[in-house]
Amino acid sequence: MEHKDDGMMNMKTTRDVVRGLKDVAAAETKISYVDPMGVLYYLGYNIDDLMGNVIYSEVAYLLLHGILPNKRELDAFCAKIISQMRLPREVEECIKCSPKHAHPMDVLRTEVSRLGEFDVEGKDFTDEANRRRAIRLIAQVPTIVAAFHRSRQGLPILYPKEDYSFAENYLYMFKGHRPSQDESDVLQRLMILHADHGFNASTFAARVTASTNSDMYSAVTTAIGTLRGPLHGGASEKVMEMLDDIGLEEEVEEYIQGLLDDHKKIMGFGHRVYKVEDPRTKHLRCIVENLCHKDRTMSLYNKCLQIEGIVHDRKSIYPNLDFYAAVAMDALGVPKEFFTPFFCSSRISGWVAHIIEQYEDAVLLRPSSNYVGEFGRKFVPVEQR
Ligand code: COA
Repeated sequence: MEHKDDGMMNMKTTRDVVRGLKDVAAAETKISYVDPMGVLYYLGYNIDDLMGNVIYSEVAYLLLHGILPNKRELDAFCAKIISQMRLPREVEECIKCSPKHAHPMDVLRTEVSRLGEFDVEGKDFTDEANRRRAIRLIAQVPTIVAAFHRSRQGLPILYPKEDYSFAENYLYMFKGHRPSQDESDVLQRLMILHADHGFNASTFAARVTASTNSDMYSAVTTAIGTLRGPLHGGASEKVMEMLDDIGLEEEVEEYIQGLLDDHKKIMGFGHRVYKVEDPRTKHLRCIVENLCHKDRTMSLYNKCLQIEGIVHDRKSIYPNLDFYAAVAMDALGVPKEFFTPFFCSSRISGWVAHIIEQYEDAVLLRPSSNYVGEFGRKFVPVEQR
């Protein structure tokens, strides 16, 4: 058969490529707004007004329902989440069988996917079932993280206690003892700051999966894999690697100048949207300042302040969420490979809200690309190649 590929070049359509989809609006959302001038809104509320005045479960309710709960609704929501924190027995057994050396993000990604196998509502994909599923995911992602942390140390998995708050339960199940009021307050604040952030890469990835009418577990698994990368939520682990690698506070200047001289990126700095300082940074800096009674935190904080100054002088960029969050999580006793799983444990509330919003939008997210490959290549059968 004669091939008429020569004319194909004329048929090729090219469009302007927006590299990295920078500034491309892919959909409409009511959930959160990242103002480039340094303000973050959850459902219209400036996070500065929420911080210190709400608990994380209140924010999760807001993201999911679009309004802040009254006291009765909040109590019922908190009780619901805590009652659903326990994992299906089979998932718990698989966590115990995960290799101790596995990265916690590998385990989290796999076990969230497995939760889909044991979903009590099976193939009921109605809005009501998805909202119940969303609450189960908000409750169970932290449990997976805590369970793996315990089991890889050869310790028994702990179960949630009805009289502990969600944040208390998370730290209790992770560390093995009831946290102090200050510790659970720090976790509440961290979780609020990590709960949602517009069309970031993992949320967008989750929405792409949801846009094919795939199930919520698939969409969340997509998001976890995307958040993990060091250019996104994986940055906090890299920040701590860098801070530990620096050694003494006196070595910060040389270390950071050296990285910048080599055109390397400083983890925990820069942002795709913000033109000014990330509005979450001031809250995180303040959280870390209040934890400086710990010697290690004080030393890390001093290094961070120096790094901020050097990077700003050289590149005019600011720390993002992951920079001081790393130090705050370290002060809570969270090992650095669990930083990104902790991030997932709060971003899950944003992801499920976006997944539900995407189901409502009911449009397939499917961009195009400009083909820059060849046309008209002559096919040669395998025996003749
Ligand atoms: N360290 C040093 N320089 C940085 C930097 C960083 N962390 N982040 C951005 N820059 C510089 C780039 O080198 C580039 O400079 P140039 O124009 O002179 O080449 C400029 O700032 C723009 O950076 P670019 O990577 O193109 O911006 P982006 O919008 O594509 O990327 C990030 C945004 C977040 C991916 C990027 O800032 C980054 O890689 N940060 C480090 C990882 C991180 O902390 N991720 C968490 C994000 S919340």
